[in-house]
Order: sequence, then C-alpha cells, then structure tokens
Amino acid sequence: MKRGRVVFVTGSGSGMGKESVRLLAQKGFKVYAATRDPEKLSGIFEGEVTPVYMDITDPKSVEEAFYGIERLDVLVNNAGYGLVSTVEDLDEKQMFDQFNVNVFGLLRVTKHSIALMREERSGVIVNISSFLGKIGLPLLTMYNATKYAVEGITDSLRYELADFNIRVHSVMPGFFDTQFARANLVTNARTFSEKSPYAYMVSNLAPRIVEQINRGNDAKEVAALIYRIIEDESFPARVTAGEKARKFIPMRKELSDEDFERRVREYYDL
Ligand SMILES: NC(=O)c1ccc[n+]([C@@H]2O[C@H](COP(=O)([O-])OP(=O)(O)OC[C@H]3O[C@@H](n4cnc5c(N)ncnc54)[C@H](OP(=O)(O)O)[C@@H]3O)[C@@H](O)[C@H]2O)c1
Repeated sequence: MKRGRVVFVTGSGSGMGKESVRLLAQKGFKVYAATRDPEKLSGIFEGEVTPVYMDITDPKSVEEAFYGIERLDVLVNNAGYGLVSTVEDLDEKQMFDQFNVNVFGLLRVTKHSIALMREERSGVIVNISSFLGKIGLPLLTMYNATKYAVEGITDSLRYELADFNIRVHSVMPGFFDTQFARANLVTNARTFSEKSPYAYMVSNLAPRIVEQINRGNDAKEVAALIYRIIEDESFPARVTAGEKARKFIPMRKELSDEDFERRVREYYDL
C-alpha cells in the first residue's frame, strides 16, 4: 500500500458510509469519518479513524470539518436521503432540502477536497449516486433529480479535474439493506394521506420499494467497489452495484425510453 493515504467519507454514521470507513481503515487508510453524530462512531473501528462532526447543509460546518486536514487522497461523497412525494404535493422547503443534502452538500465537500487534491496533483473522488440517477420512478422525482444531478456533476468534473490527475467516479447502487428505508426516507404527509388522488400508487409502490431496500444487497459490496476504484487507475467512470442496478441499468441502455417505461410499469404494476 502507498504511504499513509488519507480519505474523507461523508454520511459515515450508517450503511455504505460506515462500511466504507471500516474497510478503508482496515486497508491502512487514515480515515476522516464525517457524520452528524461523531460520538456514535468513537472507538468502533479498527485502524486510524477520526470521526468528524459535519452538517453538510451548513457551509461553515463543512469548512470546519476540513480544519487540520493537510492532504487528501480520496473523497467518498456518500451522504444522502430520499424524499417520497408527488410533485404536486411538494413544498419549497422539501424541494430545497433534498437538493441541499444530496447535491449542494456534495458540492460543498467536493470544493474543499479539490483544493487539497489539486495541491498534490492527485486524487480520487467517488460519488455514491444511485441507479435512480439513470432511471425515473414516481414518488421519487426529487430524489431522482438529485441523483441525475450527481451523475452530471461526475461527468463534468471528470473533464475539469483530469489535468490535475484527479479521477472522478460514480457508483450507482440498486437497493441496499442499510438505514436508508428505516431512517432516511422522508415522506410527504399529503402524498401519504388516504384522501390523496395518488393513494393507489402510494399504497402499491411505496411498501414495495421499502421492502426491496430492506431486503437489498449488503453495503459491504459498495465498500469493496470503492476500494477497487481507488486502487485501479483505469477503473471505468461509473459502475453499478447490487442486483437491481445490474438488472435495470443495462436494460435502460438497450431499450427505447418507451419500451423501458413499459417494462417498469409491468414490474411495479404502475
Ligand atoms: N440503500 C439504498 O437502497 C440506496 C440505493 C441507491 C443509492 N443509495 C445512496 O447511498 C448513499 C448511502 O445511503 P445508505 O443506503 O448507506 O443509507 P443510510 O444508512 O441511511 O446512510 C445515509 C447517510 O447519509 C447521511 N444523511 C442522511 N440524511 C441526511 C441529512 N438530512 N443530512 C445530512 N446527512 C444525511 C447520514 O449520515 P450521518 O447520520 O452519519 O450524518 C447517513 O448515515 C446515499 O447517498 C443514498 O442515496 C442508497
């Protein structure tokens, strides 16, 4: 292993973030594990892990999370949550909050990381996107929009940072059994009201998605992929993770928009 490499992971408190911190520390990285609750992470990992408080929605907090970090080799942009709402029911705060965490937050952390990596003329940025960064689903429009944005950020940054030898990748997970459906899906009360004109869609789709997430793949798979991306300088720009992404992403590429939509309608009885 190359000497003392440093990695910064966002959303380290659970799921893919926590497993990435665990694996990278085991592999000998010095890991800064950013989270809203650093106490929860204290002393639970083997290796060199520093839990750091960070509220990704607050630029000052993001800046402070980087105090004392003099060099950085790898950034894992992982923090994110999902808003479940029809577009008709969205309010301004829900719309903004979803982008503030999944997109603006990612950009805040990325800004600070680029400055450090550019000094070293080397670095790897791994964005945890989603297969829903390439595929739409009803009730998840805002979440979809944030993950499509993450895909666009990945593609643009690859050009912007190539001259500084900074690689940018995206991981598109399918459904994974983490805290995501248990603690980090935010539901719109109006959408979930029995009187909603979308009540059939909500009662049909929402429980199935939650079940598919809770019975999804193991977050260790994503951690292992992140490690492979870091180690392999010729790793592709983006990669799928988990069964559902491996099923739907190739189908999305091969079929016309309309044929793909028909398949998804059949699959979810939409
Ligand atoms: N699970 C899935 O099926 C799935 C599928 C595709 C993509 N993803 C993506 O994978 C990433 C990791 O999710 P996960 O599945 O590991 O879920 P998770 O266990 O819920 O972890 C998500 C982490 O994101 C951070 N986070 C959540 N809401 C936040 C908020 N409002 N403000 C700031 N940070 C927040 C939390 O970090 P702290 O509590 O430590 O601050 C949390 O530990 C996310 O970007 C998610 O969109 C998940």
